[in-house]
Amino acid sequence: MTELRSQDCLSRVPAALRLDTHCIGGRWQPSADAARFAVTDPATGATIADVADGSALEATQAADAASTALPGWRATPARERARLLRRWHAAIVEHTEALAALISAEQGKPLAEAAGEVAYGASYVAWFAEEALRIQGDILAAAGTGQRMWVQKHPVGVVAAITPWNFPLAMIARKIAPALAAGCTVVAKPAEDTPLTALALAELAAQAGLPPGVLNIVAASRERAPAVVDAWLADGRVRKLTFTGSTAVGKHLARASADTLKKVSLELGGNAPFIVFEDADLEAAVAGLMAAKFRNGGQTCVCPNRVYVHDSVHDAFVERLREAVTGLTVGPAWEPDVRIGPMINARAVEKIGQHLADAVAQGARLITGGMRVREADGPHYVAPAVLTGATPAMRLACEETFGPVVPVFRFHDEAEVIRAANDTPYGLAAYFYSRDARRIARVAPQLDTGMVGINEGAIASEVAPFGGVKESGYGREGSRYGLDDYLQTQYLCEGQLG
Ligand code: SIN
Repeated sequence: MTELRSQDCLSRVPAALRLDTHCIGGRWQPSADAARFAVTDPATGATIADVADGSALEATQAADAASTALPGWRATPARERARLLRRWHAAIVEHTEALAALISAEQGKPLAEAAGEVAYGASYVAWFAEEALRIQGDILAAAGTGQRMWVQKHPVGVVAAITPWNFPLAMIARKIAPALAAGCTVVAKPAEDTPLTALALAELAAQAGLPPGVLNIVAASRERAPAVVDAWLADGRVRKLTFTGSTAVGKHLARASADTLKKVSLELGGNAPFIVFEDADLEAAVAGLMAAKFRNGGQTCVCPNRVYVHDSVHDAFVERLREAVTGLTVGPAWEPDVRIGPMINARAVEKIGQHLADAVAQGARLITGGMRVREADGPHYVAPAVLTGATPAMRLACEETFGPVVPVFRFHDEAEVIRAANDTPYGLAAYFYSRDARRIARVAPQLDTGMVGINEGAIASEVAPFGGVKESGYGREGSRYGLDDYLQTQYLCEGQLG
């Protein structure tokens, strides 16, 4: 039943956007050894597409194509690059329904949320179309007589982008768009769970007029992805690596990039604290937590992983939260009113189960959810859960659960909760709710994270720099800061001028 519905979802996608081969040098091509891998419906594990499975050979062909295209693309006037990005943006927006169907089919998020992701991803393309026009250098006050000194910005070169499954469109768009705006060419490998959306995006870029070789996509299975990535890591022509994914993989990539000293941006794991102070507007705090936590069923790096609530408002907050969480509908992406789709795979469901069992064994109280639901539709649906009595020793306090689980910790004072919030190797996002202006000014700078939501649960935006500190990585995506990651600085000094 679900398999049929998933195919129904895919049948909304025009044939021109249902692609299953690599995009290299402007051509769609299978792997030389004809290998393919299955893309599955996350709810059931049923195959929904067979996609070409790349190897080191296709990775190198893609790097060849990107290197060949680089001189022409970097010499293309910024105004023309911006025009092509605007055309790509228009094509993405025009195909919102088809792209949302692809996202839902391969990733599982509800269709309305998938359409929101299309708009979100497209916003980065529009933003960087504009930023392309604002790449500027500097004239310096010359140090010596008869000298002229200035600074120019150049594209860093060929960029390798490795992207995750949780936002199949937005994450790749926000890496490719600044790269193209800067004048870089791109080789990209989408996550093995969700290559279909990335391939469709490449087709839309080609339809928009992007020259061949400027954007190349190599798909690969979990087993063969390392060979693709290793080929790019070893290739001195690839000058930049941008990755979103786990901290463990990010550390490996940073080490492996060292041999060719690539410029590296890493958007890695998080363990976001969400603090509700005694002076918070509880209704707003619950609404903010619901928005931040349950986006993509809790499968985001920025979603709150630890919720700290002041002792004096704890019970009132938890009761409001329980009510809101029990009102969430879980089910297949294409059913109306569904708010939480399936988890991405069996490993994800297993980890959620382990975190819940560990917390309960250590004394937490499960007040709602946590069990599998909709089992007739597939084994990967989990009812959103709220736990109270969470403590720092529990696994869910130390690791990203990456699922719809809200552990609530009780706290008594500001200094204690700031210490607890920062007591993690991660530093991506933090959130807090308070109506006290002095507290807001005091607390925000003490939070050791790249992003802070203050009385706000939805912080991601193309206008803002997205990224972390500590073991959540480095580099920024979006905003004017996001372009710098794709540029290098050249200082010029001219003498003998008088
Ligand atoms: C992520 O989960 O990595 C990104 C989420 C976002 O862009 O908000």
